[in-house]
Amino acid sequence: MANGSAAVASAKVLAILGVVAAVLCAPAAAGLPRVAHESAKDDGKLSLLVVGDWGRKGTYNQSRVAEQMGRVGEKLDIDFVISTGDNFYETGLTGVDDQAFELSFTNIYTAESLQKPWYLVLGNHDYKGDVLAQLSPVLRKIDNRFICMRSFIVDAEIVDFFFVDTTPFQLKYWTHPKGDHYDWREVAPRGKYISNLLKELDVAMKKSTAKWKIAVGHHTMRSVSDHGDTTELVQLLLPVLKDNGIDFYINGHDHCLEHISSRDSPIQYFTSGGGSKAWRGVFQPNKDKLQFFYDGQGFMSVQLDQDQADFVFYDVDGHILYQYSQKSLKKTHHPSYVTDE
Ligand SMILES: *[C@@H]1O[C@H](CO)[C@@H](O)[C@H](O)[C@H]1NC(C)=O
Repeated sequence: MANGSAAVASAKVLAILGVVAAVLCAPAAAGLPRVAHESAKDDGKLSLLVVGDWGRKGTYNQSRVAEQMGRVGEKLDIDFVISTGDNFYETGLTGVDDQAFELSFTNIYTAESLQKPWYLVLGNHDYKGDVLAQLSPVLRKIDNRFICMRSFIVDAEIVDFFFVDTTPFQLKYWTHPKGDHYDWREVAPRGKYISNLLKELDVAMKKSTAKWKIAVGHHTMRSVSDHGDTTELVQLLLPVLKDNGIDFYINGHDHCLEHISSRDSPIQYFTSGGGSKAWRGVFQPNKDKLQFFYDGQGFMSVQLDQDQADFVFYDVDGHILYQYSQKSLKKTHHPSYVTDE
């Protein structure tokens, strides 16, 4: 019976991957890769989980977080999972045959409800390994959930997710790598990569007619924890997000859970980086408005429909730590608003 429903679930994933494969064959000149995520439900609601900074073979409470994700994922009947990066510690994958892939991913997120597509960005720790291996479609032969790309769009009808490869932005990785080796193949030179990426994001965001627009990256925009704000993202990426009415920016990198409101735009910042090692014990306020901060492990759920977006943070026991809801401000796209007039 469990096998039967797992087979159905993996058939669903395969159907979705058919779309992914088709999209990925599109020529590079067509802009950012685009994945069409068609909801299997007809209530118009999208549910997903967000976890970041996790791949430690189950240690540092990774397994406890995974178990609670399974329970919450089932309760919310989630459509997919987002990873905000640092998928494999300490130094990414060594190749497509690295056992860490199974030990930190396949064998950890085993719950039935998590057998959905996982859309993943790369973190700085992933860049310390073989990046091309982590991006390789060969990994989907081992576990077909794993959809990791550099920068791409997931079009989930009422919402467009813009996944952004943020590691190349951080200048110090290029100028002061210390003992670390970063795999910049297909990225260097930095300036050209970033300007192309920002242009492609701007074009895609301007074209988007989705009700909600959400950007996802590994690095913090605003954070009160260890890494603080990422200056390069505030200078280079944030103006593009602001210009294009992005509602939310979701990231990892700091191993905590936090919600910060912007003082100079409607953008809300969410950090979900509590997938394993946490409890850093650092708190440094910044200029934006801190709404919530938890220094320990956990994850986030997001539920969206035409009218409302709901964010919830959970700890390692699945207890709700914090909830935030936002009504959609963009009424012009609302069908019932049009008929009411
Ligand atoms: C695991 O989570 C519990 C509950 O939050 C915490 O007390 C403990 O320190 C965590 N363990 C590690 C290794 O972080």
